[in-house]
Amino acid sequence: MKGHVKRILLFGPPGAGKGTQAAAIADRLGIVHVDTGSIIRENIRTGTPLGLEAGAYVEKGELVPDELVIRLIADRLEKPDVADGWLLDGFPRSLEQAKALSEMGDGDEPVERVVFIDVPENLLVERLTSRRICSGCKAVYNLQTMPPSEPDRCDKCGGRLTQRADDNEESVRNRFRVYRESTAPIADYYEEKGLIVRVDGTGTVGEVTERIMSALAADRVRTK
Ligand code: AP5
Repeated sequence: MKGHVKRILLFGPPGAGKGTQAAAIADRLGIVHVDTGSIIRENIRTGTPLGLEAGAYVEKGELVPDELVIRLIADRLEKPDVADGWLLDGFPRSLEQAKALSEMGDGDEPVERVVFIDVPENLLVERLTSRRICSGCKAVYNLQTMPPSEPDRCDKCGGRLTQRADDNEESVRNRFRVYRESTAPIADYYEEKGLIVRVDGTGTVGEVTERIMSALAADRVRTK
């Protein structure tokens, strides 16, 4: 797609399909998918100082403290591979983080478009508790909507499928509370800047991808 926006946020409640869509959209636009949740989980897995500090927050579904995540993203967006564009998934998640991101643009707002993937909460709890991730290639499955051909085995690499530590019902409910209290209000911040476009996140993965691509191709941002 020629002349497309190159610095994009994917925004939405837990389980809305941000990770699933980000992989497809970043690939089609030739920009880099930056996912704070995965970066934090990799730090936890490898036992870095950031991972040791973040682990307890993530497991309970709480936000990792702003200063840690802001530093992590500021460092990531300095890397040469994102010079041609990025698709942020999972950041910002608080007003503090949104303001810090705005200041990373040397005076100009670096974000060009915010795609809000809208899915009613009642559809999402089951989506999250049914999610399984390949321990090898990190492919994402869903026991209800995108099951693997063999139970507990990845179709792509044969790796073992596991459940995320925060995909149990108690953590999921807490993630929704945190989303409502700390993250959802950021929509107003970007609404005021005229950057938000809302996309219906129900339907198949392919249908949602096409809606997002159309929203990104539109000249003007539709806010509602
Ligand atoms: P993070 O990993 O970002 O979790 P999240 O925002 O809760 O989002 P999810 O990854 O759960 O869902 P998703 O929207 O990506 O959905 P997915 O595509 O997988 O963050 C985890 C934790 O890290 C946070 O709780 C926090 O502790 C910490 N953290 C991260 N960023 C932070 C920050 N900035 N500040 C502070 N702390 C931070 O899809 C979900 C399931 O549905 C999958 O099984 C998928 O296969 C399925 N699915 C997807 N689309 C469809 C569809 N259209 N139809 C049917 N099924 C579908």
